Amino acid sequence: MTIREMQEEILRLKKQKNIAVLAHSYQRREIVEIADYTGDSYALACRAQETAAQSVILCGVRFMAETVKILSPEKQVFLSNAGAGCPMAEQLDFERLEDLKKQYPNAAVAAYINTTAQLKTICDVCVTSSSAARILAALPEREILFVPDVNLGRYVAGLLPQKVFRFVQGGCPTHVQACAADVAAAKRAHPQALFLAHPECRNEVTELADYAGSTSGIMEFAKKSSAKEFIIGTENAIVEHLQFDCPEKKFYPLSKDFICQNMKLTTLSDVLNCCRGEGEEIVLPEETRAAAKRCIDRMIALGG
Ligand code: 13P
Ligand code: SF4
Repeated sequence: MTIREMQEEILRLKKQKNIAVLAHSYQRREIVEIADYTGDSYALACRAQETAAQSVILCGVRFMAETVKILSPEKQVFLSNAGAGCPMAEQLDFERLEDLKKQYPNAAVAAYINTTAQLKTICDVCVTSSSAARILAALPEREILFVPDVNLGRYVAGLLPQKVFRFVQGGCPTHVQACAADVAAAKRAHPQALFLAHPECRNEVTELADYAGSTSGIMEFAKKSSAKEFIIGTENAIVEHLQFDCPEKKFYPLSKDFICQNMKLTTLSDVLNCCRGEGEEIVLPEETRAAAKRCIDRMIALGG
């Protein structure tokens, strides 16, 4: 089957079976083209609740599919490639977080959404890169234990000097690869370009950015900006999507190695197989789902 034939078959099956395909912005172009919605992790969480479809296929990584199931238990939720996990989401285990909570009894526990459903059951609120500052500013507690991404945490702490932050060591193995020297080299190669970075990058990288924000934030900024050239400090799918959407502008990757292998696991054939009923359905114990939902609900309530 050609790519076009696979896409047509997916579109036919989606309609016939009332399936919605939600894709994270790091997904491949051919998947984004057949998705009902593409966006950052906050938008995907909100969209999942809104869709009227009975089944949802999530093209992204496991915690995103879990989030859809947590919010929409009545829907059948499939992860299009069962091997696609986020390494950061697995970095902190339940027992370690229990210990940290004892160490900081007055702190609100804020979990980046890149965490397992089980870990979310013992957190107070979830955040995403696009919503973290807004949500944490609105918390009544002054002290915040932020897990697991220390880079995002430090970036947000810089925006909220009125709060006291506690961190544990953790982060995204893809974003953490880029360093300030890479930014300097990219700026030398493209002196006219603005530099846009995801706050999962090291702080030495984010500090050099003309704009820092979520995947959707970066895309919106680049589309609206009157600048013509941009260096993109996040997964290289965003370079590709922006170049398609804005052919009159130029987009350069910060590094050719800025690729999340997990996000790239999902292929169009996986999505087609999922539409045919062969994907992994997300099943969560009701107790876990309900407990994890509390901190996601709070994120949506405070995130607006
Ligand atoms: P966004 O919130 O910008 O989508 O980033 C989440 C993420 O880590 C995707 O890998
Ligand atoms: Fe996880 Fe990083 Fe990949 Fe996002 S880019 S899914 S945080 S490993």
